[in-house]
Amino acid sequence: MSETDENHILSTCDGGVQILHIHRPDKKNALTGEMYRALANGIRMADNDPAVRVILLRGEEDCFTSGNDVNDFVGSDDRSGERPSVLFMKAIAHARKPLVAAVNGLAVGIGTTLLMHCDLVYAADDAWLQLPFARLGLCPEAGSSYLAPLLMGHQRAAELLLLGERFSAEKARECALVNEVLPAAQVLPRALERAKALAALPAEAVQTSKHLLKRPQQAAIDETIALELVNFSRLLHSEEAQAIMQAFLARKRG
Ligand code: COA
Repeated sequence: MSETDENHILSTCDGGVQILHIHRPDKKNALTGEMYRALANGIRMADNDPAVRVILLRGEEDCFTSGNDVNDFVGSDDRSGERPSVLFMKAIAHARKPLVAAVNGLAVGIGTTLLMHCDLVYAADDAWLQLPFARLGLCPEAGSSYLAPLLMGHQRAAELLLLGERFSAEKARECALVNEVLPAAQVLPRALERAKALAALPAEAVQTSKHLLKRPQQAAIDETIALELVNFSRLLHSEEAQAIMQAFLARKRG
């Protein structure tokens, strides 16, 4: 097992499946810049390792990820748009090998948008998801303003991305974000079993098939990520967004 970023991203290989485990339980698996970098590197390395056939993303048993670390949203003077999260977005958007996700607990922000880039997604029946960008004074990211309407249609995407309320794993399945909803304890075993089933198939055929499935969207995803980023950076520096972030961070101090 290799460990990076003070053990916040754990990486293990099991039967041709590279498991990237988000592990920052005391902060609900909030993703820091270093964690994004470690995830992006993990995907790149898995893509380049012939022994790896499939990449599986998982979190804790009670938490997939609460999304971007809000501390990194506050007082950031980076207006270039080149945040480390972008490396991760590009890595998941361009991964050649199949991406499988096991979602337990909660998946907020990029925890949900990353699922739109995965090939197979398994979620717990008690998990909830949320795309809270507009509520935070921000806008969609990771290509979700293109992928969400494509997956679920405009009205359902607007409900999730504009109102930004929590929604259940079952609703995520109805919206085509999730393949199967299972009792919490079965999510990881099922995701691993499906990942191993994929890993047992002819690798070149699986990767070529994935490429063909994704190819028609690729240019639009790249363009959308870039456009979202310009707007996200602008909104992030608004007084409104900064006040909302500060309020979240201050809520326990008050
Ligand atoms: N960024 C930074 N810290 C976070 C975080 C995030 N995204 N999510 C959780 N944390 C931290 C909390 O500040 C808290 O830290 P503390 O113990 O030092 O005070 C710890 O993780 C536990 O979180 P807590 O809020 O106490 O857990 P909860 O079960 O009551 O609520 C959430 C969980 C996910 C609903 C809540 O933490 C939350 O809303 N987080 C922010 C989600 C978000 O807006 N993400 C950005 C999306 S773009």
